[in-house]
Amino acid sequence: MAQDILDQIRLHGAVPAHIAIIMDGNGRWATERALPRPLGHRAGMKAVREVVEGAREAGIKVLTLFAFSQENWKRPPDEIQALMSLLEHYIAKELDELRRNGVRVSVLGEVDRLSPAARAAVDRIVAETSAGSQLALNLCISYGSRAEITRAAKILAEHVAAGRLAPEDIDEERLAQELHTAPWPDPDLLIRTSGELRLSNFLLWQLAYAELYITPVLWPDFGRRDLFEAILEFQRRDRRFGRVTV
Ligand code: FPP
Repeated sequence: MAQDILDQIRLHGAVPAHIAIIMDGNGRWATERALPRPLGHRAGMKAVREVVEGAREAGIKVLTLFAFSQENWKRPPDEIQALMSLLEHYIAKELDELRRNGVRVSVLGEVDRLSPAARAAVDRIVAETSAGSQLALNLCISYGSRAEITRAAKILAEHVAAGRLAPEDIDEERLAQELHTAPWPDPDLLIRTSGELRLSNFLLWQLAYAELYITPVLWPDFGRRDLFEAILEFQRRDRRFGRVTV
């Protein structure tokens, strides 16, 4: 199906180790079809499945998806409810396959705010996929980057106040150890669907050197072919990390 692009990716060589995605446009996808917004989110779930499979096929090691932001708590209660039950549904439906495919799921964000049922589902998928070693799938839920950085600063301040850490030992690496993303390298590539040119409080620290790939495709229409095209585009970029290339 998308084998031709996958072959091109393999010819080019190195793929990004870590891809982060802002899955945007579910609401517009539904509105364009005169459907209620939750049906857009449901269609978006299929795209999640596609992208997880595609990432595995392409040899990506870490995939981080922005599923629910802290700002999303301000949406109408029925839409929040729909998103939460979709999350529970996704977990119930995909757990076995994710485990079979060696996907290790982590959930990043303030999960204390989730309903007890959503929280139980999240805890279950994290526990039951913990042996996966092919692909790390990070679901950012109730996630906000400024809150994450503030939390890290607070933890470091507590260590200093307790005499466990000297202020001069705080550097970028030490702070990054307190972020939710501590176990993984920073994303090499950020994909945002639906054409918006914003970071929306997503991984502000971690995306410092990421290549940005913005596509007009709405999230429910995003498939593995689109993912592979983003990877190919990444392979054409010249990453300099602030240096010059000769
Ligand atoms: C943004 O579209 C998308 C979301 C707020 C939710 C993303 C959720 C999913 C893709 C489905 C569930 C995911 C998992 C991991 C189970 P939007 O509503 O902001 O769209 P709009 O900008 O067109 O209104």
